[in-house]
Amino acid sequence: MSSVIGGEFAIAADKAINATLPDDKWHMLPADGYFSSGRAALFAILSSIGEQEVTLLLPAYLCSSVTQTVRDAGWRYQFYDVQPDLYPDVSCLLVQLRQKQARAVLLINYFGLLRLDDVVAAIRRECPQVAIILDDVQHFFGFGQEPDFDFCFTSLRKWLPVPDGGLVKLGKRCCDTSLPAYDETLPFTAYKLAGNLLKSFPQLIPDDLCLELLKRGEELLDEQYRGGLSCATELLLRSIDIQKVARRRQANAAVLHRGLEKLGIAHGYQTDAVPLFVPIFLAPEQRDTVRRAFFQEQNICPVHWPKAEAGLSGNSEIYATELSLICDQRYGEQDMERQLAVLRDRVDL
Ligand SMILES: Cc1ncc(COP(=O)(O)O)c(C=O)c1O
Repeated sequence: MSSVIGGEFAIAADKAINATLPDDKWHMLPADGYFSSGRAALFAILSSIGEQEVTLLLPAYLCSSVTQTVRDAGWRYQFYDVQPDLYPDVSCLLVQLRQKQARAVLLINYFGLLRLDDVVAAIRRECPQVAIILDDVQHFFGFGQEPDFDFCFTSLRKWLPVPDGGLVKLGKRCCDTSLPAYDETLPFTAYKLAGNLLKSFPQLIPDDLCLELLKRGEELLDEQYRGGLSCATELLLRSIDIQKVARRRQANAAVLHRGLEKLGIAHGYQTDAVPLFVPIFLAPEQRDTVRRAFFQEQNICPVHWPKAEAGLSGNSEIYATELSLICDQRYGEQDMERQLAVLRDRVDL
């Protein structure tokens, strides 16, 4: 039987125990605030703005943890449209920002594919009072490189074998903002760490057991997410060659891109980006069938995202058409070819 592609990372226990302990708490990744997750980082940003019952404009294509966090922070939200090319419809967005007298807008850099300079410049020019929050959860390797945002955040555990982590950077207009500090390491981290570590002993530990731990970790994260970055993650980061991770992801994505071009399948790709996944876009009636075919081949490719809210306006199309091909650092060219072979067999071209 062929090996599994996808699922959560295994933490290599031998690497973890050999990581060098810092003398002092010392962060591998430069940021202005360190948190347990992306949503903890977003909550800290909204809290630091220090207002409640104000409106945040959110893209209509997003993951449900974002809306939950905004509600928890006591903010209202409205959706703006995202076009099929994943960019905001800027003229509509500007009208909405004015009409709703929004306090802030959230821009998501989907799969790290967008160049948001023009969008940010238009918002600055037309609505200078609006705070711009960039969600770089899918753009870890370009985190905070977009110009002129006010707040930017990302998340670590989807990119690297670590159990938790969320980072915030402050833009120059907000450099004096004081972000809340959450010191507590949360219960979800222990479950994720246990599940990730046990995954590195596949001959001894059944996969189901690891999955149970990881699933429980995810449930606990939904219940309680406002915490700090764990020391376990700090330590594990020191055993990871981040540049090697970037190179492997880029090489894998390039293989997928070439194959997808040949097959004529619509997908998102940028040569210089380091991708989380390579998203492909299929007809809605095909997407779930193809995903099932991937599962049969032991390929656990996710979709982004299950639709967050029934009442979402506009671009519900993307929720029904997107499928994420896996290109992370655990895999190589042959694994990419395996994914392309499934598409070759199962997509009506
Ligand atoms: C675009 C986006 N923003 C925010 C989040 C929340 O990140 P976390 O799960 O680390 O809280 C996610 C999670 O999948 C996401 O995809």
